[in-house]
Amino acid sequence: MHDLVSKPQRHFDFAQMSGADRYRLLASTIMPRPIAWVVTRAPDGCVNAAPYSFFNLFGADDPVIALGILARPGAPKDTATNIRATGEFVVNLVPFDLVGAMNATCVDAPPDVDELELAGLTTLPSVAIAPPRIAASPVAFECKLTHLLDTGPGQSLVVGQILHAHYAQHVLTGDPQRPRVDHAALDLVGRMHGASTYTRTRDLFDLDRPLWQDAKITATTAS
Ligand SMILES: Cc1cc2nc3c(=O)[nH]c(=O)nc-3n(C[C@H](O)[C@H](O)[C@H](O)COP(=O)(O)O)c2cc1C
Repeated sequence: MHDLVSKPQRHFDFAQMSGADRYRLLASTIMPRPIAWVVTRAPDGCVNAAPYSFFNLFGADDPVIALGILARPGAPKDTATNIRATGEFVVNLVPFDLVGAMNATCVDAPPDVDELELAGLTTLPSVAIAPPRIAASPVAFECKLTHLLDTGPGQSLVVGQILHAHYAQHVLTGDPQRPRVDHAALDLVGRMHGASTYTRTRDLFDLDRPLWQDAKITATTAS
């Protein structure tokens, strides 16, 4: 057993910390985080894109994802404004070869600027919603908003249901009726500590899950 109790520890009372310090501590601790490259469309038709790493999968039946959108001094982030107004968004995933383009779209551009155009990216139409998907991204999820929670001043949690998924053929393998995802071909990146550190999803190991049935047999054999 690891003896963590005898190691010196430091306690943080979040009520005594600034938002910026809480962010620095937590975003450098809860990692790696997958990156949702979110495309929305404003009611006036303008397309918007930005990366969000407060992102994960929260269910499969229904297929649920969530995004954490932080406050921005002055005005809410365009992604939050557009999702609030339209209830629609596409989550594209980010492989290593698209990190430069992904990073270009995090620029704090005004709402009428299409960050995908800025980054030289082309789009494909979605089948069920107005925002397009990023053509170069190997996986795109068309999502509809199911819950929008205000979790702080200007900060929100977006919960969405995936309606359609688009996978590039080269990241799928095996039986076409029940394909598996080729994680190496997908080559996704994750967000790490600090403002600019990322990881690649390549350092893998396997860990079998314990089964109660096997544990009972081992215990009986040992006694
Ligand atoms: C890799 C990466 C991950 C990010 N994750 C988040 C996030 O989870 N939440 C957030 O509010 N901003 C996040 N940002 C910052 C936004 O992308 C940035 O504020 C952007 O300008 C927002 O654009 P928008 O106003 O078009 O939505 C992230 C930036 C990068 C580069």
